[in-house]
Amino acid sequence: MRLRRELLTSFYISAGPYNSGMLQLCCTVRNCSHPLVHTEGRLACDAGHHFDPAKEGYWNLTQPQDKKSANPGDNRDAVLARHRWLGRGHAAGLVTVLKLWIPDSTPQMRILDLGCGDGSFGPWMFPGHATSYCGIDLSKPAMKLAARNWPEATWILANADRGLPVMDSSVDCVVSLFGRRPVAEIKRVLSEPGRCIVAVPAEDDLIELREAVQKEGTHRNRVDAIIQEMDTNGLVCAEQKQWRTQVEIGADEIEDAFAMTYRARRWSEQKRIPSINTAKVTLAADLMLFHHK
Ligand SMILES: C[S@@+](CC[C@H](N)C(=O)[O-])C[C@H]1O[C@@H](n2cnc3c(N)ncnc32)[C@H](O)[C@@H]1O
Ligand SMILES: [Zn+2]
Repeated sequence: MRLRRELLTSFYISAGPYNSGMLQLCCTVRNCSHPLVHTEGRLACDAGHHFDPAKEGYWNLTQPQDKKSANPGDNRDAVLARHRWLGRGHAAGLVTVLKLWIPDSTPQMRILDLGCGDGSFGPWMFPGHATSYCGIDLSKPAMKLAARNWPEATWILANADRGLPVMDSSVDCVVSLFGRRPVAEIKRVLSEPGRCIVAVPAEDDLIELREAVQKEGTHRNRVDAIIQEMDTNGLVCAEQKQWRTQVEIGADEIEDAFAMTYRARRWSEQKRIPSINTAKVTLAADLMLFHHK
């Protein structure tokens, strides 16, 4: 436990970066939404509101009401479990597939990663774009880890469900990987030739583990509903594909796989996870690429 805390609290950097190639952030004070300008080491709007960088290198744009959120973002255990899981390379194949949708011809591509978690996907998907990449998450442990791992990028602690703290049409690439999808807001912030990349767990993702704790694993295909919802909000699905692989994992990895998913966390709290030493598990995701109609 002590070791984990040290992992999150060491390597502080003195100020959060706010880069010139960045998308235009806006103020999160209720009814304000004025552009935020980086001045004297803080972010300020012309209505007199300002935000200081957290000492760990991210910007905290949350408002008091976000602290009361029923969904405060992932807790430390879930963030660390996901971090270890990704660090073992389980998403390497997924990244390769997702990168096919990222244009390499846009030098200053403004990127917004919604529910970016520990931030691992940022440098994997957008190497060379640190100064125009912005990750948003509502979890403090996630933002601390992300800012430590890729300090050149911009990290924002904010509630993506309360309106994105970003000006209209100021993002060239919105990414939502197993994270938040505030559809009307995605439409608002996406620039005209911009694209939005969405990944959600496929119906057989981790099915073997889910079958082990439930009598039957639940099968849920979310794709049609997502495409429909995006379409209703003016975003059309240009391409859809699946990524799928099977991996052999040991006890520690199985525990992490449970810990990083919401339902499994609930199950583990109820101590319903049987002891499994090794398992061959399916990793699968539905991937969708959207742009303006
Ligand atoms: C399943 S994790 C995915 C993280 C990352 N995209 C990845 O694939 O590794 C979902 C993330 O959404 C974040 N989250 C949950 N509610 C949020 C909200 N209202 N606003 C912003 N982030 C939120 C959680 O803290 C968590 O990091
Ligand atoms: Zn303001």
